[in-house]
Amino acid sequence: MSSKDFKTLDDIGDVQGKRGLVRVDLNVPMADGKVTDDTRLQALLPTVIELADKGAKLLLLAHFGRPKGEYRPEFSLEPVVAPLAAVLGRDVGFMQRPDADAIAALPNGSITVIENSRFAAGEEKNDPAMAKMIASFGDFYVNDAFSTAHRAHVTTEGIAHYLPSYAGRSMERELTALDKALGNPEHPVAAVVGGAKVSSKLDVLRQMVEIVDHLIIGGGMANTFLAARGVNVGKSLCEHDLADVANEILAAADKADCTVHLPYDVVVAKEFRANPPTRTVNVHEVEADEMILDIGPAAVEALSDVLKTCKTLVWNGPLGAFETPPFDMATVALARTAAALTKEGQLLSVAGGGDTVAALNQAGVADDFSFVSTAGGAFLEWMEGKVLPGVEALKQSDKKI
Ligand code: 3PG
Ligand code: MG
Repeated sequence: MSSKDFKTLDDIGDVQGKRGLVRVDLNVPMADGKVTDDTRLQALLPTVIELADKGAKLLLLAHFGRPKGEYRPEFSLEPVVAPLAAVLGRDVGFMQRPDADAIAALPNGSITVIENSRFAAGEEKNDPAMAKMIASFGDFYVNDAFSTAHRAHVTTEGIAHYLPSYAGRSMERELTALDKALGNPEHPVAAVVGGAKVSSKLDVLRQMVEIVDHLIIGGGMANTFLAARGVNVGKSLCEHDLADVANEILAAADKADCTVHLPYDVVVAKEFRANPPTRTVNVHEVEADEMILDIGPAAVEALSDVLKTCKTLVWNGPLGAFETPPFDMATVALARTAAALTKEGQLLSVAGGGDTVAALNQAGVADDFSFVSTAGGAFLEWMEGKVLPGVEALKQSDKKI
């Protein structure tokens, strides 16, 4: 996919005094009423400031949590307004529900958050009547939330059918980076797929073996593959019932000339807690009462050598139980190699999805990757090769402002 498939803010023309419905992702982690990670707020800044400075009246549409179509105060977006204003360096207003007279009275260049879109029952059903109604409050629609693009909801998809629609700057950056990494990559391409369970990433693995040259499997998922190959993984996290599926994926990889890298040394412990006694052993030496909690140093070195031969890297998921020391060592070490190769200009590195950003932050290298996605589920669905309804709707939009 190229960014030419849909309109961006470069195509938007004069928006002075126009009402812009802008879908953003305000689904930020909060604790005690405070935003604990403002990455998603930072991501929407370029679009919002650009449009506000052009004199548009901006109505920001977003969800928070999963209130399931009814008003629940703990899911209000109101507590996000002040942190957002701080990030933007602008005043930000708040509206319980869009109101035509109130919107007409807003000054040009103003920014207003509309209460959680998921309080309305029609949002997640993508109810066309609701989409039409919400669209009537705007003159144009901008989707700047790649991280919600896997949802076909009113604010992520439905509205695009009724208004001139554009990708925001953050959406545009995500799509351009992801296209470079998997749509149209420079080979050899490596994918790191880690995390706890094979079952949650089956489609990702199936798609990756068809596209990439090297598939590096880590985390609990690697245990399932090792077990499928007859390795005794002791009491490691392992989905034994997926042995056949794992073997099918390995066979598909073979056919597609994709080299699958499983660890050959691992770090094991008898208990899963911080800093227990550990052993580093060959995968064939795991005892019945031990569990694999990280990839070993020899495997990490071999994987670093693989990355040195690659031009492109897609990373999703940690290699070990990285939240519990010392089982972050492999993830940190390999992430640092990837970051160094990126800095040297040898590697295009793109990461995203769930725990991945936290793992890269822990390694202190998130800024050194070519691109780190703000998305969790949407990143995975993109890796699965699925059509993202939010992106598709922008491509199909042909209305002009
Ligand atoms: C996310 O946090 O992954 C996005 O905001 C989407 O949220 P959802 O998984 O509740 O649809
Ligand atoms: Mg999600």
